[in-house]
Amino acid sequence: MIDILVTGAYGQLGSEIKELSSNYPHYRFDFTDADTLDISDEQNIKSYFENFKPQVLINCAAYTAVDKAEEEITFAELINVHAPANLARQCNSIDALLIHVSTDYVFSGKAFQPYKESDITDPVSVYGKTKLDGENAIRANSKKSIIIRTSWLYSYYGKNFVKTMLKLAHDRGELRVIADQIGSPTYAADLAKVILDIIPQSMKIQTNETFHYTNEGVLSWYDFAVAIMELSGLKCKVTPIETKDYPTPAARPSYSVMNKSKIKSTFGVEIPYWRHSLKLCITRLFRLS
Ligand SMILES: NC(=O)c1ccc[n+]([C@@H]2O[C@H](COP(=O)([O-])OP(=O)(O)OC[C@H]3O[C@@H](n4cnc5c(N)ncnc54)[C@H](OP(=O)(O)O)[C@@H]3O)[C@@H](O)[C@H]2O)c1
Repeated sequence: MIDILVTGAYGQLGSEIKELSSNYPHYRFDFTDADTLDISDEQNIKSYFENFKPQVLINCAAYTAVDKAEEEITFAELINVHAPANLARQCNSIDALLIHVSTDYVFSGKAFQPYKESDITDPVSVYGKTKLDGENAIRANSKKSIIIRTSWLYSYYGKNFVKTMLKLAHDRGELRVIADQIGSPTYAADLAKVILDIIPQSMKIQTNETFHYTNEGVLSWYDFAVAIMELSGLKCKVTPIETKDYPTPAARPSYSVMNKSKIKSTFGVEIPYWRHSLKLCITRLFRLS
């Protein structure tokens, strides 16, 4: 039996991990969120670790409001930098493995080929900078950790682009969606399964390692919106626009495709194609709504 603490368990990723957890009878989970285990409360985290001594911590908790982070810098730093640093110290103190999730927004978006884990980071937003600083704080405070960078996360749970497009398609006759930001979506259920699958192999790793994981395929937000309409059977016109026509407080990388060779070769992971996973999520949304 492996004892696993999941923080931020009511978010998109945490909820998908919870949903899959019964498929892993050799794992014993403790699912927590801000109301039961606030990761920024150092004293609370310390006493949790003293009392329960998890072997693995999957940190799904984060400050994820990309635009609001431009204003709420101190709060975003508390959750995305200082809290992960403390989680790393606590894991280190009992030799537990920390699995942490980061983002494609650590990159500038100026590349022309998929980013590798070793490529230079240069975030263009406060959120991206806090996530990068959080990664570095973990590496500085931990002997063994797995940091998984993902992008364009969506799920049956929580707020995300897929659910927003479906709602807007009902409310409006036409959607205008950015066509000059290129990346790869990630179905949180796929990422959740990978995280759970790689735990036994990850526990043997004695270093700080970074991996990239998204669904396979490369597309723009516009392409993604068109596919959402097609797969859901909604007859809503989608018009491509440029980033300059949809100004947001935080800048986004214009190209954030990530190279996934390392996670595939290290763990033998097979990654689903984005459209296949999108179809599964939309089916689930329509079936259960
Ligand atoms: N969403 C994306 O498109 C995306 C893209 C790339 C990477 N990521 C990364 O992927 C990870 C998972 O993202 P997600 O989309 O699942 O996030 P999410 O849906 O926003 O969930 C985050 C969870 O963390 C909780 N939380 C916030 N502050 C906390 C605290 N102090 N203590 C404990 N829990 C706290 C939130 O609770 P409340 O709701 O109560 O605040 C929420 O349940 C994050 O690290 C994120 O940075 C996300």
